[in-house]
Amino acid sequence: MQNEAMVEKPYHIPVLVNEVIEGLALKDNGVYLDVTFGGGGHSRALLEANKTIKVVGLDWDENAINNAEQYREQYGDRLQIIWGSFAHLYKLIRKHKLKKFDGILADFGTSHYQIFERHGFSVHRDTPLDMRMSLSHFKITAADIINYGTAEELREIFWTYGEERHTKKIVFAICEARKKKKITTTFALAKLIADTIGSGGRIHPATKVFQALRIFVNKELDNITAFLPVATDALASDGRLVCISFHSLEDRLVKQFFQEQVRNGMGTMPSKRSITATDEEISLNAASRSAKLRVFEKK
Ligand SMILES: C[S@@+](CC[C@H](N)C(=O)[O-])C[C@H]1O[C@@H](n2cnc3c(N)ncnc32)[C@H](O)[C@@H]1O
Repeated sequence: MQNEAMVEKPYHIPVLVNEVIEGLALKDNGVYLDVTFGGGGHSRALLEANKTIKVVGLDWDENAINNAEQYREQYGDRLQIIWGSFAHLYKLIRKHKLKKFDGILADFGTSHYQIFERHGFSVHRDTPLDMRMSLSHFKITAADIINYGTAEELREIFWTYGEERHTKKIVFAICEARKKKKITTTFALAKLIADTIGSGGRIHPATKVFQALRIFVNKELDNITAFLPVATDALASDGRLVCISFHSLEDRLVKQFFQEQVRNGMGTMPSKRSITATDEEISLNAASRSAKLRVFEKK
């Protein structure tokens, strides 16, 4: 009989692993940067795919850094772990005296650990409405925004980052509810939204608002915008940048940036279209359904 206590939950299930390995076109003795180390699934797959390469893994979540300790012995100096935000890549490269990379990987979004263990990310777990991926980089939580943001600010956030078509109704309900009692938990917000716009359907009615709040709290789009030009600069000639996005706002930033680089003669896009998960992967890992991978190769 299997002992349940012995079945460990994975930190994260990486998506498009073979496509990432192929996209980076690993070179012998190459050095690769994984700016969203998470549970290290992609980094470890790269280290296993070519035993001559090195990987530098970066994450801003202290839990990801602590969790990476377990790989120290196995990979020795083939794996270097750094804490920080990829939005500050330029500073981190200087601080850690890193050279040009043969490839860089960014797998945007949240890890399963963050969704299932941390506070605020899931509509299905009742936790404080926090949503910060890094407690050191941000002080303002999702609850602060919900309780103290103006109606106009809330409308802007839900519409811009969630493309939520019931924005007006939801913001009105939040402003009325918070006059009586602060909204401090995921379930309180999720229930208020479900009561306001109705539930039904496969996806929870609060999903878009949660996405919008998470993007806003963690400045996710600003981080990607700051990261892309520094990443291309940090690539060696023929080096590749592989980005995995999980919603259209992220993917648009990546696609437009890569297209602009190509127009400016800085490199090519080996595959013109985005690469998505196979039906088989989607059946094994539902989170891969919305993943879009794009590759840029520097001249
Ligand atoms: C989808 S997970 C990556 C999972 C990883 N590829 C794996 O195989 O386990 C995204 C990770 O990126 C991290 N992250 C998000 N934004 C970041 C940023 N601006 N700087 C550094 N890490 C970031 C999150 O903390 C999270 O651990």
